[in-house]
Amino acid sequence: MDKLKVAVLGATGMAGQWFMSLLEEHPYFEVVAVGASKKSAGKKYREAVKWIIPKPFPEKYGDLVVFNASNADELKEHVDLIFSALPSEVAGDIEIKYLKKGINVVSNASPFRLEPDVPLMNPDVNPDHLELLKYQKRWGAKLVKNPNCTTAVLTMPLKPILNEFGIEDITVTTLQAISGAGFAGLPAYAITDNVIPYIAKEEYKVEVESKKILGKLEGNEIKPATFDVEATATRVPVLDGHTEVLYIKTRRQVDAELVKDVLRSYRSRVQELNLPTAPRRPLIVMEEVDRPQPRLDRLNDKGMAITVGRIDITAKGRVRMVIVGHNLLRGASGVSLETAELMYKEGYIT
Ligand SMILES: NC(=O)c1ccc[n+]([C@@H]2O[C@H](COP(=O)([O-])OP(=O)(O)OC[C@H]3O[C@@H](n4cnc5c(N)ncnc54)[C@H](OP(=O)(O)O)[C@@H]3O)[C@@H](O)[C@H]2O)c1
Repeated sequence: MDKLKVAVLGATGMAGQWFMSLLEEHPYFEVVAVGASKKSAGKKYREAVKWIIPKPFPEKYGDLVVFNASNADELKEHVDLIFSALPSEVAGDIEIKYLKKGINVVSNASPFRLEPDVPLMNPDVNPDHLELLKYQKRWGAKLVKNPNCTTAVLTMPLKPILNEFGIEDITVTTLQAISGAGFAGLPAYAITDNVIPYIAKEEYKVEVESKKILGKLEGNEIKPATFDVEATATRVPVLDGHTEVLYIKTRRQVDAELVKDVLRSYRSRVQELNLPTAPRRPLIVMEEVDRPQPRLDRLNDKGMAITVGRIDITAKGRVRMVIVGHNLLRGASGVSLETAELMYKEGYIT
C-alpha cells in the first residue's frame, strides 16, 4: 500500500517531536515535509531541533529541510494531510492558509475547537463526531481539532460512566505536567519545588470542550452534554503525564465494583478497527491504593490508555477516582494520529 504523504507543522516543538517519532514507522503515513518558525527554516531537521523527548531521534527524517510554516507557499511537496502542533496564538490563521490550498488539517491548537462544524475528536470517546465533516464546507479541505490535553484525558473514563449511569455534575482538580506548557513554557525556577494553582484559560477549556466531546451528534450539529463541570487546574513538577482527581455525581446510584467493571470493559470503534495508535485497553483500572502515578503509568498501552485508581463512592454518594494520562500522547500527538487513522479508515482522507 502507498502511504499517504504528510507534513508536520511545529515539528521542532514538544508535540511536534512526538509526531515525528510516532510517524517514523507508521503504516499509513509518511512525513515528507516539516515546518516550524522562520528561526528554524532552511536548516536540516536534525540541526533545527533540540531533541528532548525520551525516544530515539528519527534518523530517517533528519535530512528534511525545515520550511517556514507560517508561509503556506513554502510547502513545495505534495501532501495529503497536515498535522499541526503550532502554538495556539498563531495556529488559526496559518492552518486556514493550508485548508484554502486544499490540504486537510488535523490540529492540536485551540482556535476553532468550539466551532459547530469542526469535529473535536478524542476517537476512543466520540468516533461518530467525524460525521460533522460531511457538513463542513467553508474551506477547500477539512479541519479536525483535538481537545486540550486535560480534556483528552478526562473524557476517557467519563464516556462509559455517562453511557451507563448518566452524569449530573463533575468536579475535577488537575495536577498537570510541565511539558503541557511546551518546551519553553515554564522557567525551572518557577516550577521546581513548587505547585502553581493556575493555568491560563485551562479551566474554561476543560469545561466547554468536555461537554462538546461528550455531546450527541444530531444531524449536522453536536448537542453538548448537559452535566455541570467545575475544574481547577494546577501545574506540578512532573515532566510528563497529567493526574486528575474526579468527583462525579451520577444520575443512577452505583457501587464501586460496577464502576470498575464498566470502565474495564469499555471499547469503541477504534478498537474494533484495530487502529495502529489505539490502545487495546482504553481504561486500565488498578486496585493498588497508591496508583495511578504519572511516572509509572503515563506510558501504559503506548501512552494512549488512561490509568484509573482509588475508585470508591464517597459519603455523599459521588464516584471518586484518580486518573493519569500522557499529555503529549493521549493529550496531543497520539490523539491526532489516532484521529487521522480513523479518518483514513472511514474514508475521509484517501
Ligand atoms: N504540550 C502539550 O502537552 C500539548 C497538549 C495538547 C495540545 N498542545 C498544543 O499543541 C501545540 C504545540 O504545543 P507544544 O507544547 O509542542 O509547543 P512548543 O514546544 O512551544 O513548540 C512550538 C512549535 O511551533 C513552532 N512555531 C512557533 N512559532 C511559530 C510561528 N510563528 N510560525 C511557525 N511555527 C512556529 C516552533 O518552531 P521553532 O522551534 O522554530 O520555534 C515549534 O516547532 C500548541 O497549540 C499547544 O497548545 C500541547
